[in-house]
Amino acid sequence: MKIAIYPGTFDPITYGHIDVLERALEIFDKVIITIAHNTAKEPLFTDPERLDMVKHVIKKYGKHTDTEYFDGLLVNYARKKKAIALVRGLRAVSDFEYELQMALMNRKLANDITTIFFMPHEKHTYLNSSIVREIALLNGDISSFVPAYVQKILKSKVQKLRKRKK
Ligand code: COA
Repeated sequence: MKIAIYPGTFDPITYGHIDVLERALEIFDKVIITIAHNTAKEPLFTDPERLDMVKHVIKKYGKHTDTEYFDGLLVNYARKKKAIALVRGLRAVSDFEYELQMALMNRKLANDITTIFFMPHEKHTYLNSSIVREIALLNGDISSFVPAYVQKILKSKVQKLRKRKK
């Protein structure tokens, strides 16, 4: 059984992430979406909220996917899960340097785990979670960027934030 880990902040999960997941599922028997901790980020959604959104979105892939939160060194988690690869998406050249550094560092830490990059469809090239959050906060239409469930959660988060500000 070929298992891969797809790590990220997923704040929130977008159609771009789902595109990468579906490409990975064509190659791996199981892809575990790991909501990992990026020390440089302070997410809008709590860990349980991000987990809930991912869980809802991946339901349709059945036993071929799973999701968990993990706060620690990613390669240790990958080993624990008997994963052979880490999946990441490459949208544009601007992603490359950061991804190269992470992939090489992870290889240095765990030579038996390979990072594999997938290029999402070009219609998702401009997409990232921050821009989706910003559009939602400014009342814009996010229906073509995130699934309906994520849209609903994002809208209710925005409403809560507005109430708190008043
Ligand atoms: N479609 C749309 N957006 C995408 C995307 C895609 N296919 N692929 C990436 N993105 C966006 C994300 O939405 C995110 O946007 P944001 O910055 O606006 O939130 C950004 O690109 C990249 O984020 P993400 O893919 O979530 O990764 P990350 O950089 O936040 O996560 C970790 C990095 C969590 C994987 C990394 O910090 C890690 O491994 N942490 C664990 C600790 C560890 O082992 N550290 C050592 C690493 S060498």
